Amino acid sequence: MKQKLLMIPGPTPVDRSILNALSKETVSHQDPQLVGTLAEVLKDLNTIVMTKKGQSFTVPGTGTLAMEMTLVNSLKEGEPLLVVSHGYFGDRFVEIGQTHGFQVEVLASEWGKIVEVEEIAKKLKEKRFSAITITHVDTSTGVCAPLKEISEVVKNFPETLFIVDGVCATGGIEERMDDWGIDILFCGNQKAFGAPPGLANLIFSEKALQRRNSLGKIAIYYLDINRWLPIMREPANTYFSTHAVNMVNALHQALKIILQEGLEERFKRHRRFALAFHQGLEALGFQILASPEYRANTVSAVLYPAGIEDTAFRKRLFENGVVVASAKQKIAGKAFRLGHMGNISETEIMITLSIIEKTLLEFKQDFTLGSSIKAAEEILYKE
Ligand SMILES: Cc1ncc(COP(=O)(O)O)c(C=O)c1O
Repeated sequence: MKQKLLMIPGPTPVDRSILNALSKETVSHQDPQLVGTLAEVLKDLNTIVMTKKGQSFTVPGTGTLAMEMTLVNSLKEGEPLLVVSHGYFGDRFVEIGQTHGFQVEVLASEWGKIVEVEEIAKKLKEKRFSAITITHVDTSTGVCAPLKEISEVVKNFPETLFIVDGVCATGGIEERMDDWGIDILFCGNQKAFGAPPGLANLIFSEKALQRRNSLGKIAIYYLDINRWLPIMREPANTYFSTHAVNMVNALHQALKIILQEGLEERFKRHRRFALAFHQGLEALGFQILASPEYRANTVSAVLYPAGIEDTAFRKRLFENGVVVASAKQKIAGKAFRLGHMGNISETEIMITLSIIEKTLLEFKQDFTLGSSIKAAEEILYKE
């Protein structure tokens, strides 16, 4: 079987060295090797989100578990939660919040656009919220929230916890947890970290840890951060729940790759790659859903030109060797979603664009052969 190029917005292609780390011998969760590795993982998470005093956690699970863990440790039943939603994953906070009986209010944008920062400021002035959630990059729309600007507003409301979903951003787009006053930031493994899915990674500020304590007893067991805290602070000789030993080894290697590349370099590379894809795809007649000012560097929702049927196109693309994801809800059938994050290189971009061109030819589309490659080369090779 020919291997497919995985260009979905997670899981992203996994570097061989990370797979090698994953397949290391499974040791005890108390083994000195694992204890040391876990301690480094937690330290590296802090470095990547630029916090000095934040408390990192890594817990078996996925991004959704991190979302729920965040909320249940931040609010009590009946408390007001403000959700800023730029798509499907923003809306998921609403579902989780309602499931736990929080009083959820939503500011939602049209798909492809953002909720204006002034609108968020107005809402926070009108009413006191226990927490506000922002999805840094909504993977359904490819919209990147202006996190720094939003942080300037949220800073004026210290009683409101600032919660950021970094699932489709952390490790690929700048996030300055301390400078921007973020209280809880979380992500998974499988997107810009480039590791296999399986761990939920969360970083809590001191204020967020205090908030958890102020809630007293909470009606949840596995997701209570206070049960995890001792083993994150002192991994040797403590136990709450068995670590995902092999996954911790894999994440460790993934984080080392990020830090070896250097954060600034990595963010810059993601910017270049996104631009190359955007210009390349536009040269072929596709449109990027997100407004140019708010386009994510990690994922794009790509609208089809007239005359292309989504399922047939993605199926043919798959047969030709490239996997992209379907679009969700409001744009289902009208677009596909393309991941461009993690440990990919120029090679993957060029192959993807070329295979898209091949598939367009098979669909008898009218376009100039090679135009996406040329557009991408202008960005990748000249700038
Ligand atoms: C922004 C965002 N938040 C949360 C999630 C949920 O993560 P998971 O699928 O790992 O549960 C996703 C998944 O794609 C996501 O993109």
